[in-house]
Amino acid sequence: MRRIALVNQKGGCGKTTTAINLASCLAKEGKKVLLVDLDPQGHSALGLGVKTDQMEKSMYEVLSGKIPIREAIRALRENLDAVLSDVVLSAFEQVMAGAPEREYKLTQSLRDIENNYDYLIIDSPPSVGLLTFNGLVACDEVIIPVDSSFFSLNGLGKLLDTIRIIEEKVGHQLTIKILATNIDRRTRFGREVVEKLETYFREDCFKTIINTCTRLREAASFGQPIIEYDERCAAFRDYQKLTKEVLNEEAEMKAKISAVESGLELEAEGRLKQPAQRGIVFTLKAPEDAMVQIAGDFNNWVPEGLHLTRSMARPVWQKLIPLKPGTYEYKYVIDGRWMPDPANDKVVDDFLGGMNSVLSV
Ligand SMILES: Nc1ncnc2c1ncn2[C@@H]1O[C@H](COP(=O)(O)OP(=O)(O)O)[C@@H](O)[C@H]1O
Ligand SMILES: [Mg+2]
Repeated sequence: MRRIALVNQKGGCGKTTTAINLASCLAKEGKKVLLVDLDPQGHSALGLGVKTDQMEKSMYEVLSGKIPIREAIRALRENLDAVLSDVVLSAFEQVMAGAPEREYKLTQSLRDIENNYDYLIIDSPPSVGLLTFNGLVACDEVIIPVDSSFFSLNGLGKLLDTIRIIEEKVGHQLTIKILATNIDRRTRFGREVVEKLETYFREDCFKTIINTCTRLREAASFGQPIIEYDERCAAFRDYQKLTKEVLNEEAEMKAKISAVESGLELEAEGRLKQPAQRGIVFTLKAPEDAMVQIAGDFNNWVPEGLHLTRSMARPVWQKLIPLKPGTYEYKYVIDGRWMPDPANDKVVDDFLGGMNSVLSV
């Protein structure tokens, strides 16, 4: 299951619109999709024509452990299921204050059903609090929708800060991509926005741009995704194009993974390729129920845990460690057993009868 979260701490920039329309278009392409709404405002439900006052089993009951996620799933369209939310979810943060593993509630609840879907699309609230973190921890990919207001004054700097915070706090590798939404390219400002995006973000932004289209607003007020409401408008074409881009990435990812499985080289290469200012993402394939830690010069050889992620259904353990340029020795600790990195050929004697892996940044 591919896991994608729509995140931006600003409201009104197109998270819900993109979640609903991307999920619906993927479902139309024959993918089995689960849409999860983590926003107590419940806009995803409204945009899909579900009344929130009829909500008995919502994301709140799932995250607080009252019911398994299976019981809250609603079949909304062909290939499109959802777990929706309403205002009750706003109590989650308070109820969970101080609770252990509170950022992992969504991840844990998904274990039951992850083989039933090709895509998980998560809509988030306009903040980077506990609910958004549950979404981020459960995801491998993040789409940050940005509208034109980001390109005025401080918006862009704030956006880069958000990306940094997300990467540091989540601790596993996330593919983050920017999506320009609600852009009016008929205006000079709109065209400047597109230019700036291409200059600043290059391959980190989608080629597709979602143009301003009033039909989107109308569709949402009728509780319909744009593919049902109007097949002739600009938004229909834009979201189709975005869906094609997302599906193409899947083909590229699959090719990469088969290369990894035939030799592990790409994982080593991928790890060393991380830009130095963000740190190095240590990556290890290990069983899901293992305890995986890393220890090295960078943490005084005190083992710290890696987080379980799944790239295309593979259990992969990852940890982002900020590292300044230099040479470091390290080992993985799997269920208490110390071992060098199987994906790294560079080793030195640890003078205890074994080997340490060596990494130069
Ligand atoms: N491309 C667009 N063109 C016109 N209106 C849009 C577009 N994208 C979103 N909107 C409208 O802007 C408002 C905010 O969008 P929404 O997706 O709810 O943002 P968020 O979930 O980030 O708060 C909604 O009324 C929506 O219909
Ligand atoms: Mg929203």
